[in-house]
Amino acid sequence: MSPTYSEYLRLDELLKLQTGVEGENRNLCNDEMHFILVHQNFELWFKLIINELKCTRRLLSNEFVKEENLPRAVHHMDRIIEVFKLMSQQWRVMETLDPQDFLNFRDDLGTASGFESIQMREMEELMGPKWVDGKPFGKPSQSSEKSLYKVVCDWLYRTPIQGSVVDAKDDTDIVDNFINDYISAFQKQYSEDDESIVNFFEGDRNLRRRRAGLLFIESYRSLPLLAWPRKLISKLIELEQAMLLWRSSHARMVERMIGRKIGTGGSSGVDYLDMTTKFRVFIDLWLVRSILVKKQSLPSLNNSEFYEFKGE
Ligand code: HEM
Repeated sequence: MSPTYSEYLRLDELLKLQTGVEGENRNLCNDEMHFILVHQNFELWFKLIINELKCTRRLLSNEFVKEENLPRAVHHMDRIIEVFKLMSQQWRVMETLDPQDFLNFRDDLGTASGFESIQMREMEELMGPKWVDGKPFGKPSQSSEKSLYKVVCDWLYRTPIQGSVVDAKDDTDIVDNFINDYISAFQKQYSEDDESIVNFFEGDRNLRRRRAGLLFIESYRSLPLLAWPRKLISKLIELEQAMLLWRSSHARMVERMIGRKIGTGGSSGVDYLDMTTKFRVFIDLWLVRSILVKKQSLPSLNNSEFYEFKGE
């Protein structure tokens, strides 16, 4: 038998959950009901984002990522981006709470705070380790599962560079040549003394190859087979940017609501929230932007036929 609308969505249960702590039987004022509903709305969106992040990660986590998985991963990320954009607007609903009226029930929250949101931390874990001003932030993850950042790094590591695949016999030489040619092109366009390009490639073979792969995709993005990889990279940046703008709009709402008061979770409040807008996860993807050169200055491309579409 077909379920009713309410059965399907389990509305009876859902709509009974706006009571504050179970069993306390407090009479919530209209403002506090509003406060609870807005928070619950966000937590439902978080649930959607977590599901979509897991789908994206799964599509990119095979050793050989199939071509057709890239548009599918982009599709999931598009959904996440739209939700973050929507959530950035949702603070306006919260702001219809008057700062003084908030104080009527703020003490009842005790130490409860968005700080304790398990889903928020899960989103962060799924994205990957955070960096602030070029330094790692926080404790290393305890999760045995790979983050989206890690699967993206593994995928970038396998990018064919100048037509050379990662396990080819002379791959290391080809990649080193590409890196050296690029460094010369960069220093010719900017300055011989500009070390940022050298620093970008400072590290083990894994780091050098994945960053060279990223740079290769960004530089020769008009090649047919690089179109979707390039799209995927720009979606990852868009996703992280949407998340940062959401963090930043939360901080502005909080500043308007409680000024410079400390948070119920015990942090410094707005200063802490502003610091979180410095977090960067996809550091390679942000960094690469500083070392791009104009198209005419790029090292000459070898084996371009490798990147053409091939018939069955
Ligand atoms: C009157 C409304 C709000 C105020 C004044 C406020 C204030 C704060 C403050 C001061 C913090 C820093 C941690 C602390 O010391 O408590 C924080 C963190 C947080 N808040 Fe809010 N908040 C409000 C509404 C919301 C809503 C509606 C959500 C949606 C779920 C939310 C989600 C979060 C999250 C996820 C964090 C942790 C951020 C992080 O650590 O990166 N907040 N909030």
